[in-house]
Amino acid sequence: VSEPNLSAPSLSAQLQPSSAKGSRVQNPIRIALLGFGTVASSVARILIESKPEGLELTHVYSRSLARRKAEWVPSSVTWTDHVDVVLTSPDVDVIVELAGGLDPAGNWVRRALEAGKSVVTANKKLISYHGVELEKLAAAKGGHLKYGAAVAGGIPVIPGLEAGLAGDRIKRIEGILNGTCNFMLSKMEDGAEYANVLAEAQKLGYAEADPTEDVGGFDARAKLSILMRLAMRLTVNPDAIVPHSITEIQAVDFSYARELGCTIRQIARAECTDANVAATVGPMLVGLRSPLAWSRGTENMVVLTGHYGGDVVFSGHGAGGHPTAVAVVSDLLALAHGSRRVVRSSAPTALSAEFEVPHYIRFLVNDKPGIIADITVALASEGINIRAIVQKPGYPQKALAFVMTVEPCKSSALKRALETLNGKDYLIAPPLDLQILE
Ligand SMILES: NC(=O)c1ccc[n+]([C@@H]2O[C@H](COP(=O)([O-])OP(=O)(O)OC[C@H]3O[C@@H](n4cnc5c(N)ncnc54)[C@H](OP(=O)(O)O)[C@@H]3O)[C@@H](O)[C@H]2O)c1
Repeated sequence: VSEPNLSAPSLSAQLQPSSAKGSRVQNPIRIALLGFGTVASSVARILIESKPEGLELTHVYSRSLARRKAEWVPSSVTWTDHVDVVLTSPDVDVIVELAGGLDPAGNWVRRALEAGKSVVTANKKLISYHGVELEKLAAAKGGHLKYGAAVAGGIPVIPGLEAGLAGDRIKRIEGILNGTCNFMLSKMEDGAEYANVLAEAQKLGYAEADPTEDVGGFDARAKLSILMRLAMRLTVNPDAIVPHSITEIQAVDFSYARELGCTIRQIARAECTDANVAATVGPMLVGLRSPLAWSRGTENMVVLTGHYGGDVVFSGHGAGGHPTAVAVVSDLLALAHGSRRVVRSSAPTALSAEFEVPHYIRFLVNDKPGIIADITVALASEGINIRAIVQKPGYPQKALAFVMTVEPCKSSALKRALETLNGKDYLIAPPLDLQILE
């Protein structure tokens, strides 16, 4: 249940002389940055170069002052390597947390909110696990918590949900929320192999040395849980969303996907019906004419489907210092100009991974007579209808890749059917099962 708390005065109202209430911002909000990496230095650039009305950078905390202190920052800004100086300063109104991770960032954010300050953060991990608790703390102490940059970086999905779409009830979310996976899969669409595109993504700084967080779907599921809370008013533990890795996707899958008029993207997907709340993250087939297929490189895209308004598509740069900093500065401006305080909480929601959609199943077999019949029996045992069987020429008989697509069926039923094939001597690898988004 969403509980808008409209009675508390806005931060700007608190900061303005009473005669000026309702007019232009009189006293600028005094801003402290925690961390001075990619996003924080871009936030500083925008604050200094664009001078948005009502915002003033006053403090920067960096643990690496010698390395990070920048000569282009005006001398009026106080630099410190003691976080307490910033957290306890009466001269700071808003803390902008841009260090990332659960700890110590979570501790800093709690302390700032306890002290009645407002907080802006881009920290998806912190908000996905502790957003509800921190929003309640902010409301109790008279501050605000804003995190418009935590999902899809510079794309205003969160402000869009808070304002433009607040009048609808969102029943479906389909998003490309991880730029690294999108970069890798759109390169594979052009013919590159997984290992090579991963190496390229790492070289370009898009992927970590250990890419599990991205390719395994963990980053996207944290973002999906935040979107579900804002869009569907559901409190979801990110750990309850089952992620599927993109590591099993091969060039052959793009070849077959194209044959079917589709491509492959990592999709974060949630659906809320009267009977079921389902969420999952993983590689899926998307039609070439779907907006999700247009998104290439590190772009992000989110398609929200409302009960009343239908589909709304957001797309753009989901990461990068400047685009993400734009979202942070927009949050700061919202505070300066009178942000509404909203506490979004519901009882924790039980999730399923049950979607009723068509599937793509890729088999890699040592070919022999009777394989199709065997698979057909397995699918029929769960009442699953085959839509098409596609076998492109040119694969060796001993490592033959072919694809079956099936009519919409429950994910759990297909899983059971495929499990009955475990141990079959003709299977070289377990079948790859991908949802098809139609
Ligand atoms: N980069 C993006 O495109 C992007 C997009 C959306 C959201 N975000 C989010 O924005 C936040 C910042 O990301 P970023 O890319 O700017 O990270 P970054 O470049 O690695 O910068 C992080 C900054 O925080 C400091 N820091 C990290 N851990 C710290 C600790 N334990 N104690 C003290 N300082 C610490 C780092 O200190 P040092 O200077 O000593 O390294 C650095 O200054 C993260 O929550 C991230 O998820 C980033």
